[in-house]
Amino acid sequence: MKKILLTTAICLVLASCANDSTDDLVGVPVADVTYTANIQHIIETNCYFCHGATPQNGAPMSMTSYEAVKEAVMNRNLIGKISKENGEDGLMPLGWLRLPQATIDQIIAWRDANFPE
Ligand code: HEC
Repeated sequence: MKKILLTTAICLVLASCANDSTDDLVGVPVADVTYTANIQHIIETNCYFCHGATPQNGAPMSMTSYEAVKEAVMNRNLIGKISKENGEDGLMPLGWLRLPQATIDQIIAWRDANFPE
């Protein structure tokens, strides 16, 4: 019975992968994500425009350090906000298109791995 459950679980995982766009599934395996190697660059490219050293355009906080990004994931619903659909209220980056799913997955993997620096 255990074996059947495991097989089912693996099939489900594979099936869900097959439905994702593969365009942007390049780069590091999500298991190896660190702040310095991956997350900092994602935040810098997509969020510093408003969440830079001096927050701009009404953004409430800076996200230019490891601690600040970690804090935003833990206490400011960062993952919830980048996971909203295009056009949905409060999607981050605000006023832009939703990030590629592979990018969102890296941030989720980083949290799940307990924020490797
Ligand atoms: C064009 C400016 C802009 C960009 C780019 C932007 N943000 Fe924001 N962000 C805001 C503003 C304005 C708010 C406050 C209003 C709100 O929460 O919707 C905010 C709020 C947030 C909050 C909630 C803070 C709180 O305490 O409620 C999070 C988390 C966040 N942004 C994450 C991000 C992330 C991650 C990115 C990049 C992927 C990003 N933002 C890009 C403008 C921006």
